[in-house]
Amino acid sequence: MPDFARQIVLWQRRFGRHDLPWQGTRDPYLIWVSEVMLQQTQVVAAIFYYERFMARFPSVAALAAAEEDEVLRLWSGLGYYARGRNLLRAAIRIQTQHRGRFPREPEALTELPGIGRSTAGAIAVFSFGARAAILDGNVKRVLARCFGIEGYPGVAMVERRLWSLAESLLPARGVERYTQGLMDLGATVCTRNRPDCERCPVAELCVARRSGRVNELPQARLRKAVPRRRVTWIVLRHRGQVLLERRPSAGLWGGLWTFPELARGDTKEYCRREFGCTLSHTRRLAPIEHGFTHFKLTISPLLCDVARASPRAEQSGRIWISIEDAAHAAVPTPVRKLLRNLVVPADLVVPAKAGTQ
Ligand code: ADE
Repeated sequence: MPDFARQIVLWQRRFGRHDLPWQGTRDPYLIWVSEVMLQQTQVVAAIFYYERFMARFPSVAALAAAEEDEVLRLWSGLGYYARGRNLLRAAIRIQTQHRGRFPREPEALTELPGIGRSTAGAIAVFSFGARAAILDGNVKRVLARCFGIEGYPGVAMVERRLWSLAESLLPARGVERYTQGLMDLGATVCTRNRPDCERCPVAELCVARRSGRVNELPQARLRKAVPRRRVTWIVLRHRGQVLLERRPSAGLWGGLWTFPELARGDTKEYCRREFGCTLSHTRRLAPIEHGFTHFKLTISPLLCDVARASPRAEQSGRIWISIEDAAHAAVPTPVRKLLRNLVVPADLVVPAKAGTQ
């Protein structure tokens, strides 16, 4: 076994993680869901969501029969909602095209929505004991440092090099422990900031360490200025309920419930025209900043108390829903934050500005 793999395997046995909820099973469904959750979410944050998801959808058949809205509701707060939608699409495909059984080959796994090459490798290793490589962000960092790979790993040529390195390092046996060890090392020791080289099992081999370049590898992406978008949300409140609308399934927060956006113009007039609501008064709430991968969003919420509502408000996929129920619906984080503010005593909600529109 190459020295690198041997050290990782020995280290994982003693210092790696062994009690995560998705370990100790070979059920590809359990492993698949965990790997998808862990694509963009850290272990500590994912555990709660994972356990709740599994309690509701214990099998691929149960998931395939689900409504998208419920899947998104259980995903709410995890972000990157395409993962939840793809999970459902893939479950349906596994049921209908694979007779409820997971494909075993990594190549076949990558045909399913939301399963890239690294996730396919992890599923194949942990479920079927396959000898397949993984290369998620953490593993890219470990390999780039240890083997002194130059360049930003998001560039196709650098990524190709890293993949062939990852494959060449695979041990003949013990791939599961090795794979888990790589993940654990990247998450707990060879971290992006302030890696703990004293505890690293491959410090002796590490090119970055020997050349004092741990902080320079892997090379960071050239950061372009991230654009900022601004929107105004209309928070219509009537008898303890708020008006939410479902976003189109393609695009930002697809399929999730958010507050309607104010297009332009006078708020009272807009609310009468669009929702048939007469407002008693309106008040600006504190803006919320939300970061996406490609831009920042500044949300200016406008709390609008409704004196008279009309059934027209519920047209075009909108619903009146109690603040309590809304907090448990498929809503993105900024909506949840706002809802929390709506239930605290009024004097704790953002300073009121008289007469604002
Ligand atoms: N990150 C991605 N997959 C993981 C796993 N199976 N265990 C811990 N962290 C992970």
